[in-house]
Amino acid sequence: MTADNLFIAGATGHTGRELVRLASEAKLPTLAHVRPDSPKLDEWRDLFGSYGATVNDTPWNEEALRSSLRSLAPAIVFALLGTTRTRAKRESTTHGTTINYEAIDYGLTAMLFRAASTLPQPPRFVYLSSTGVPADEPQPSSYMHARWKVEQLLLAGPLPYTIVRPSFIAGPGRDEPRAGERVGALLIDGALSVAAVLGGRRLSRRYRSTTNTALATALLRIGRDPSMSRRIVESEDLR
Ligand SMILES: NC(=O)c1ccc[n+]([C@@H]2O[C@H](COP(=O)([O-])OP(=O)(O)OC[C@H]3O[C@@H](n4cnc5c(N)ncnc54)[C@H](OP(=O)(O)O)[C@@H]3O)[C@@H](O)[C@H]2O)c1
Repeated sequence: MTADNLFIAGATGHTGRELVRLASEAKLPTLAHVRPDSPKLDEWRDLFGSYGATVNDTPWNEEALRSSLRSLAPAIVFALLGTTRTRAKRESTTHGTTINYEAIDYGLTAMLFRAASTLPQPPRFVYLSSTGVPADEPQPSSYMHARWKVEQLLLAGPLPYTIVRPSFIAGPGRDEPRAGERVGALLIDGALSVAAVLGGRRLSRRYRSTTNTALATALLRIGRDPSMSRRIVESEDLR
């Protein structure tokens, strides 16, 4: 195992690509995972290659992932994956299979965790969850339910983990503009500024939006800090 070599699943996402850039900038050996059927695989190879990172295109198959991870022996595995309702609907239609939070946000993250759990040198598993994941099983929200299930898996599993729970992730450069998230972040940040003035500073710190760059910076710091192992990091501690 090379000290601090990283495997980043969800590398093509808004947060993941910043983590790839920042880790490469810090001269850490960085493996950016891109699904092999990505229509932009060559573009990702060019971009991540220009940063100094290496693209890994192992298919989302447990045996294949296990075998790749064994040969790569990462010290830290980042799980930054997730779909959205709009994407899930579109991909379900295109692929003729059910794509949803259960299949992607839980299913693929759990697959990665199981594969990483078989490594002789256990890597740190850093999981990007979300603020508001409850201690008990949430009923109505399939988004929260998927995150709660992953968190339970990590808490009971064999790997040293870090669970990171950000609030809204803003910042320029999203591939698909998410008007709802942008407006939500603006409204919440505005309301929280008022709450802070009125004394709700803790509430304000927890739910204020972050940017993909600030979050990736925090993920890199937290992932490499041994004292953050087996910890849940709330959004107010990410700044
Ligand atoms: N956005 C927010 O405000 C917010 C707040 C709290 C927590 N979070 C959570 O934080 C995580 C990262 O968020 P983000 O906004 O940075 O993510 P994002 O930009 O939406 O990126 C999602 C990543 O997941 C991958 N992915 C999606 N569907 C997939 C599929 N069917 N098969 C394989 N890979 C797939 C994407 O790969 P491709 O590029 O190949 O599609 C991409 O790398 C997510 O779990 C999200 O739910 C987000």
